[in-house]
Amino acid sequence: MNRERQQVSRREFLASSAALPLAAGVITIPGVARGAWAGGSDTIKVGVVGCGGRGTGAAAQAVRADPGCVLWSIGDVFQDRVESSYQSLTQEVFKDTPERVQVPAERRFTGFDAYKQVIDSGVDYVVLTSYPNFRPAHLAYAIERRKHVFAEKPVAVDAVGSRSILASAALAKAANLGLLVGFCWRYHDGMRAVFERVNAGEIGEITSVHTTYHGGTLPKRPRQAGWSDLEFQMRNWWHFTWISGDHIVEQAIHSVDRMAWALNDRVPKQVICLGGRAARSGPEHGDSYDHFAAIYEYDNGIRAHHTCRQIDNLPADNTDYIYGTKGRAVVNGFGGVFKLYDYKGNETWAFKGRSRDMYQAEHDEMLASIRAGTPINDAERSTRSNLMGIMGRMAAYSGRTVTWDHAMNSQENLQPATLEWGPMPTPEVAIPGKYKLI
Ligand SMILES: NC(=O)c1ccc[n+]([C@@H]2O[C@H](COP(=O)([O-])OP(=O)(O)OC[C@H]3O[C@@H](n4cnc5c(N)ncnc54)[C@H](O)[C@@H]3O)[C@@H](O)[C@H]2O)c1
Repeated sequence: MNRERQQVSRREFLASSAALPLAAGVITIPGVARGAWAGGSDTIKVGVVGCGGRGTGAAAQAVRADPGCVLWSIGDVFQDRVESSYQSLTQEVFKDTPERVQVPAERRFTGFDAYKQVIDSGVDYVVLTSYPNFRPAHLAYAIERRKHVFAEKPVAVDAVGSRSILASAALAKAANLGLLVGFCWRYHDGMRAVFERVNAGEIGEITSVHTTYHGGTLPKRPRQAGWSDLEFQMRNWWHFTWISGDHIVEQAIHSVDRMAWALNDRVPKQVICLGGRAARSGPEHGDSYDHFAAIYEYDNGIRAHHTCRQIDNLPADNTDYIYGTKGRAVVNGFGGVFKLYDYKGNETWAFKGRSRDMYQAEHDEMLASIRAGTPINDAERSTRSNLMGIMGRMAAYSGRTVTWDHAMNSQENLQPATLEWGPMPTPEVAIPGKYKLI
């Protein structure tokens, strides 16, 4: 994969307004004109790369987001996923409006190059929902071909991939292309109402944050006859760090992102993180940990905490606690809690309305912004949150403190040089003190 390997200092990264034009300066392709599709009458063709659960859902949401949207092509590395997604979209989701799905067999692609075929099939808006490790390459190609993109989180599993995403984000910005990353809680009305108040200083200066993502283990698929090692790992992708980034990056990243949100998207100075496997074993569980506890430290001395767990038969939790000098905020993504309190224990505000479906809202807002000629591009901010998860994992695996500068410039590249259906040893579980921090 062609990866960006530029050196980025923390100061350069923080001064993003200075860093982006540098990257944008290399643009030679013309951008998409402001106001393209203005008036809402023209068709917007949607393509999907990665036809699993999220890809099928996001396909439906993208099409529903605008009356001019049609699903135009779909692709997946596995044939069975393409077909099951196509069946679901045509036989169930759009059963009564078949004109919204215009995906004949010749626009249903399979294999590792399916993403190129989808992107080159005449689409305008690409939904990238494959495994996270492929996102940097898929995004780079989509932006090169000047497509608007919805990219699911995580956008990368390592620092090399993160820099590639940042480069694509800058190119997208310069070309006036939309690039929305699926940190869906940013599109939830209750969550937005709380974080707007927090960011506006309603609970005072923030002194600490603790976010949680405690749940059970994700699917395990026992090996089937005929599966190569690579297929076995890909079918169990959540549990292999080179594909998923491990669960602090793959799943709990929503809560890491909310920590960033609470702190006005400042980046931390460094992180220390403990983690390991207490209840995981067996080949389907690959090399991923089942718990992490991270402490992010900021320039101003604030410490923010994040804990995540994937262990069965235990209580789930997705509460964030945000402490300010005048009060505190408590939100719970699993429980629908969005509240502010003072330090006498009084509830001072609560979100009592109904939120839009956040998965639909992100596409609604994206399509509206594209129609308006001012497409959303939140990829730089999202990549910062994503890198916070990656640096947490790096700290846990190595047992070392990892600075933002180190993570930003790390040469850790988890991707195999080539991918072929065949033998692929299960990676060793990282042992702190032995795992090399790169
Ligand atoms: N925002 C959210 O709340 C949310 C929820 C679920 C999943 N997700 C994210 O969406 C992504 C997909 O998750 P999912 O639950 O749909 O997983 P999934 O396993 O159901 O689907 C992923 C699909 O991508 C395909 N794929 C993998 N590599 C590919 C490649 N190189 N080219 C083409 N297709 C490829 C797989 O075969 C699979 O069908 C992940 O990044 C996940 O973190 C986000």
